[in-house]
Amino acid sequence: MPLENTNHSDTILQREVKRRRTFAIISHPDAGKTTLTEKLLMYGGAIRSAGTVKAKKSQQFATSDWMEVEKQRGISVASSVMQFEHQNCVINLLDTPGHQDFSEDTYRVLTAVDAALMVIDAAKGVEAQTIKLLEVCRLRKTPVITFINKMDREVRDPLELIDEIENILKLSCAPITWPVGMGKDFAGVYDLQQAQMLKFTPGENQRDQEEIEVLDGADHPYLRNHYPIAHATFKEELDIIEAAATPFDQQSFLDGDVSPVFFGSAINNFGVRDILKALVEWAPSPRPRPARQRIVYPDATDFTGIVFKIQANMNPQHRDRIAFLRICSGEYQQGLKVKHVRSAKPIRLDHAITFMAQERAHLSSAYAGDIIGIPNHGKLRIGDVLTQGEMVELEGIPHFSPEIFKVARLNDPLRAKQLNKALKELGEEGTIQVFDPLEKTGIVLGAVGQLQFETVAHRLLTEYKIDATFETVPIKKAFWIDGQDAHVKRFSQANTNRLARDASGALAFMSPNNAVLEVTMEKWPDITFQSTREIG
Ligand code: G4P
Repeated sequence: MPLENTNHSDTILQREVKRRRTFAIISHPDAGKTTLTEKLLMYGGAIRSAGTVKAKKSQQFATSDWMEVEKQRGISVASSVMQFEHQNCVINLLDTPGHQDFSEDTYRVLTAVDAALMVIDAAKGVEAQTIKLLEVCRLRKTPVITFINKMDREVRDPLELIDEIENILKLSCAPITWPVGMGKDFAGVYDLQQAQMLKFTPGENQRDQEEIEVLDGADHPYLRNHYPIAHATFKEELDIIEAAATPFDQQSFLDGDVSPVFFGSAINNFGVRDILKALVEWAPSPRPRPARQRIVYPDATDFTGIVFKIQANMNPQHRDRIAFLRICSGEYQQGLKVKHVRSAKPIRLDHAITFMAQERAHLSSAYAGDIIGIPNHGKLRIGDVLTQGEMVELEGIPHFSPEIFKVARLNDPLRAKQLNKALKELGEEGTIQVFDPLEKTGIVLGAVGQLQFETVAHRLLTEYKIDATFETVPIKKAFWIDGQDAHVKRFSQANTNRLARDASGALAFMSPNNAVLEVTMEKWPDITFQSTREIG
């Protein structure tokens, strides 16, 4: 257990870093992410009571959703950060939008965490969005904890679910708990390590899980008497998993190879304690981060951080932008003077904030692993690095080529200048990708999903008073180009009509189809074409 390793001679910084756990919660929409988030927050005391998700969705904002679009569609658009303490650990929970149209936002959030909690709907198993997200986790070797939710419903065979996770997500599963029954016959889960049965009592949303009744052994008379069929099936499954399932091994989990699996029912507050225990005992404290120049160690005294997300309008009364920064090393103290590596200019961090549930709290200090929000008016962009003077370029915020390309058409042509400015701002925030053609034919917007355009249209209208519609343009994919300066210059002169600059100024080749791309690549062997770009 990492906490026990805390050495008394550790500095405050080392102790604070060790006790941090920063994780993202990921799932396909409707698997129960919002419900589980709420229960985790309740446990950590960050919110006092959880209304049902239904009440939250229809009346008030879910703790983690702020935007108007969310209200209209019931889709988590904005990711958010929530911090709470549990068993002497400081837990940073990062929510992610479930809807695939906002997957870019989720990818960025995954670069800011040290672990992920994957929620799976036991009735549905592995769903499309989870497959994509797990690919990102695998690329980064992010440790994943799995929660199989909704056991209080008629769901699929648990062995089949494990099989599916292993085969489709290519993630070995080490069951830590195993369900006894399901739906009306859900008796609870058996803790394989403790050889104890945790009894399920349905319908008690507010119940403190510490009160869960524990029965010793897998053959307790209560189970045999009350759930004879479920118990018999469970015994058969137990034989199979004890013989064949991957045993849990912390190092394999930390390497991203094995996922501890828990079964439960978020809505009934069942299984939540097990997850928190896994986070505290097994999930990693902040890890070192590679930078172009060196490795950045979290307990190094110099402050280093990377902006992974920009959120506009967190408070509709004040048109502000918050840059979410993951502290990668050192400590933030109010008034800290840092260097903005991209511009090489100094910035003073006076008003960093964190989000404890819905409240905005001013922080006086934060440590590596924490996420801080920095209010700004457009100075900070995704991928920006802040340091205490050193030129450090951290690796890690991926940018994928969009799949849909459109241009904005104004209903009032006199607003063209405002439109350009607004689109650039939205591009810097990562709401959508923007490409400014070298020939200045009008900004091209690139998105992963249609909803991103709807978000842009909504924000243009409400925030910038610009009424615009979108028209598809004949572009299939964007490829960021690179090469020696002289080659890039010659290439740019010869292909001006197909080149554009993204929000960061990087050059991209806007390919209308594969044939054009292939011919161009053949003709220009000294230029590299990449459909992914790491900002930083
Ligand atoms: P999401 O954030 O992943 O999209 O999922 P969310 O928590 O909103 O949950 C999706 C639906 O699943 C909700 O029902 C929620 O009540 C339900 N749910 C979550 N956990 C459990 C569980 O453990 N058991 C059962 N039976 N249901 C669960 P909904 O129909 O969208 O809303 P509501 O009308 O039920 O509130």
